[in-house]
Amino acid sequence: MPSESLIRLMTDVDLAGIAELAQSVDPYAWNREQFRGCLLGAHYRNWVLEQAGSIIGFLIVIALEDEYELVNLAIAKSHQHQGFGKKLMAHLFQQSHEQKMASIWLEVRESNIPALQLYKKCGFIQTGIRRDYYPCKSGREHACVMQYRLAQESTTANQWQ
Ligand SMILES: CC(C)(COP(=O)(O)OP(=O)(O)OC[C@H]1O[C@@H](n2cnc3c(N)ncnc32)[C@H](O)[C@@H]1OP(=O)(O)O)[C@@H](O)C(=O)NCCC(=O)NCCS
Repeated sequence: MPSESLIRLMTDVDLAGIAELAQSVDPYAWNREQFRGCLLGAHYRNWVLEQAGSIIGFLIVIALEDEYELVNLAIAKSHQHQGFGKKLMAHLFQQSHEQKMASIWLEVRESNIPALQLYKKCGFIQTGIRRDYYPCKSGREHACVMQYRLAQESTTANQWQ
């Protein structure tokens, strides 16, 4: 039986593993130095998801005033579609409530169906499009801008958790 997964703060020791995981699931992934920058940035909040001593996912947000911006999220290929993405998102919602955030924002490639589905399932609403925002094989692709408004949450929100 797989051991319980846990979420903890990212540290310097995690950087090599995080960069490797990111590069294995995203051709445009950040490198180790970019992840190090997140650890050094005063507004960044960085978490890892660990199981049996191995990092199987991570989540990075920027906190500005009463808003979080989700800037990076990934689950190792071997652990995808098993609910771990939802587990990190549930952690983000818990943190957002504790920190009394009003909104969570994010941008996602319009071709990234797994991520779009995950965010929709979590209650995010698409609020706009940034045209030609990301590089891709065929040139550029649009980003979907999505928002979750905690301030207007109903008591039935987040039943997916
Ligand atoms: C996006 C990502 C984090 C999802 O993580 P995950 O652990 O696989 O997601 P979960 O198992 O928690 O699934 C949650 C929901 O996401 C959607 N989803 C996940 N994988 C999917 C897939 N391959 N196709 C379609 N929908 C998918 C489903 O709606 C799913 O709900 P369900 O299980 O009730 O069907 C993961 O695919 C990933 O790391 N992708 C590469 C990096 C990336 O794209 N990050 C997002 C950048 S914005």
